[in-house]
Amino acid sequence: MPTLGIIGSGNIGTAIAHLAVAADIDIMIANSRGPQSLQDLVQALGPRAAAGTVEQAARAGETTVLTIPLAAYRALPAGLLQGRTVLDTGNYYPHRDGRIAELDTEQLTTTELAQHLLPGALLVKAFNNIMAHHIPQLARPAGAGDRTALPIAGDHPDATARAARLIDRLGFDTVDAGPLSESWRFEPESGAYTPIYLAHPDVPATQMLQAPAAPLPAEKLRAALQTAERVKVANRAF
Ligand SMILES: NC(=O)c1ccc[n+]([C@@H]2O[C@H](COP(=O)([O-])OP(=O)(O)OC[C@H]3O[C@@H](n4cnc5c(N)ncnc54)[C@H](OP(=O)(O)O)[C@@H]3O)[C@@H](O)[C@H]2O)c1
Repeated sequence: MPTLGIIGSGNIGTAIAHLAVAADIDIMIANSRGPQSLQDLVQALGPRAAAGTVEQAARAGETTVLTIPLAAYRALPAGLLQGRTVLDTGNYYPHRDGRIAELDTEQLTTTELAQHLLPGALLVKAFNNIMAHHIPQLARPAGAGDRTALPIAGDHPDATARAARLIDRLGFDTVDAGPLSESWRFEPESGAYTPIYLAHPDVPATQMLQAPAAPLPAEKLRAALQTAERVKVANRAF
């Protein structure tokens, strides 16, 4: 498999990087501070990992994971990801990203907005509905009986299929939730968001970041996506 670019070396970027090197995929990872700041991380990841600039990570292979705060998308160089399959892990958190009218009015889903900001990139929403610490807990090899499914959505069928193959290799089944316009079904506070992976769904919000995960099979995720109701984004609590 060609090198996987990862833009963003925080909670999610690091978790995906670990899965990728464990699956024998070479990665190039980037952040806002530059490759020097990533030396400890690439050392921990081992010989399949390299640090690069944002531009180098974007050009490293045919697929890039974009895992930075939504507010930072506008700072990316124009045309950066043109023609690439991009796994967009982004969510809209008004307290972090500021209020965005197109999202508050549900005119666009978050990744539809990202698609507008990154014209020419082939965006696939993925890895946005699972807490970072649950990613290593739930990853399993292909064929395992207790595999977990993640939702994906995209407007470019070839890119969506490529993302599904990558996610399979990283350790998860996928459920195709349809085009980006349907991806609200697994945005924050929706029926298919992070609590569906909790081992104990009634865990208090204050303990979510320590709470263990339990495998979620594809049919349960499919049902959660189908019955999800669209959240009033302007009323969202975080
Ligand atoms: N944390 C979760 O459990 C979780 C779950 C689902 C989805 N998400 C979403 O996934 C995305 C990443 O979340 P996270 O928790 O991994 O974030 P994080 O820990 O805050 O890390 C963000 C990363 O983005 C990098 N970054 C920021 N601006 C950048 C720019 N202009 N160019 C290049 N890199 C830039 C940062 O670089 P520096 O390190 O140099 O600052 C950092 O490595 C967010 O949209 C978040 O909402 C998070």
